[in-house]
Amino acid sequence: MQILSCEHLTKMYKHRKQEVRAVDSISFEINRGEIVGLLGPNGAGKTTTIKCLCRLINPTAGKIMIDGKDVVRYPHFAFEKVAAVLEGNRNVYWRMSTIENLKLFAGLQGYSYKQVRNRIDELIGVFGLNDKINTEARFLSRGMQQKLAIACALIKNTDILLLDEPTLGLDVEMTHEVRNLLKQKISDEGKTILLSSHNMGVVEDVCQRVIIINHGKIVADEEITKIKEFFQVNTYTFEVEGEINQGIKEEFTQKFLGVKFSTDKTETHITVDLKDSMKIYEVLDILKQRNMKLLSIQNIEPDFEDIYLKLVRHEK
Ligand SMILES: Nc1ncnc2c1ncn2[C@@H]1O[C@H](COP(=O)(O)OP(=O)(O)OP(=O)(O)O)[C@@H](O)[C@H]1O
Ligand SMILES: [Mg+2]
Repeated sequence: MQILSCEHLTKMYKHRKQEVRAVDSISFEINRGEIVGLLGPNGAGKTTTIKCLCRLINPTAGKIMIDGKDVVRYPHFAFEKVAAVLEGNRNVYWRMSTIENLKLFAGLQGYSYKQVRNRIDELIGVFGLNDKINTEARFLSRGMQQKLAIACALIKNTDILLLDEPTLGLDVEMTHEVRNLLKQKISDEGKTILLSSHNMGVVEDVCQRVIIINHGKIVADEEITKIKEFFQVNTYTFEVEGEINQGIKEEFTQKFLGVKFSTDKTETHITVDLKDSMKIYEVLDILKQRNMKLLSIQNIEPDFEDIYLKLVRHEK
């Protein structure tokens, strides 16, 4: 069931008398319990989208529905239902300690310390902040501030979490922990999460679906497995003995896509994109007819990062 949606969401900024269309009529729906990645290059409009959804800023146009309520007209409903961690390090109060921040964010949501005490202890443990309970946020490292910001969002215990670059500034181990924590939140508590990230590993691991935006517009909104299937072009490299002549090169270029040649002293590598792996036999036939000696065949599978780059560069 749908819990968060926007329709023709648009945000224009005015900057030095010039108008910037940061988000350009985007529409999507997110179901309860879904974990969705928001991807796009720098300046694509990810942060602006997230700020509109949590109603930190007013959209210029469009509709945002959260749990059946129109939050463009009734922003307070978004504050109740959504917790957000925005990019940068200003998500927590700098002159308050770790524990004071956690108590404050729980309090803002109407929870007494008694009600959330165990949960605060659990989060402090999970994020490894035990030594820093009484340290003011401004004296925490960048990564620790980020951990505290995520902990403060989680303590609010809302159904929806919006996370803008949650693993930025975290070390490898902590990135791994945050990944697991997010996955666990979904299965244990059925939270709905929209997270932006430039870390493809995190998105591929944590999200089932991705929305890719570029220049404020959606260029893809699909399950990751489907996107990968759609782009499942198998690239093969055939290593053959010696150099190959112009005639063979032309035959390959005419018959196949993505053909590249590279010649070493004693062998040539022919790289081709084959939509269907049965097409390997066509390549082998050509090599046989032309009396080329095949040394090896290598299959290079596309990864999610390659696919993402193709999408934002409009290659498909
Ligand atoms: N307060 C602002 N005033 C004017 N223009 C802005 C403002 N905030 C963002 N923009 C512009 O809006 C566009 C989208 O910015 P946004 O921060 O949403 O991108 P992003 O996808 O989050 O990028 P990044 O990956 O770098 O975080 C950019 O062109 C940016 O320069
Ligand atoms: Mg951003």
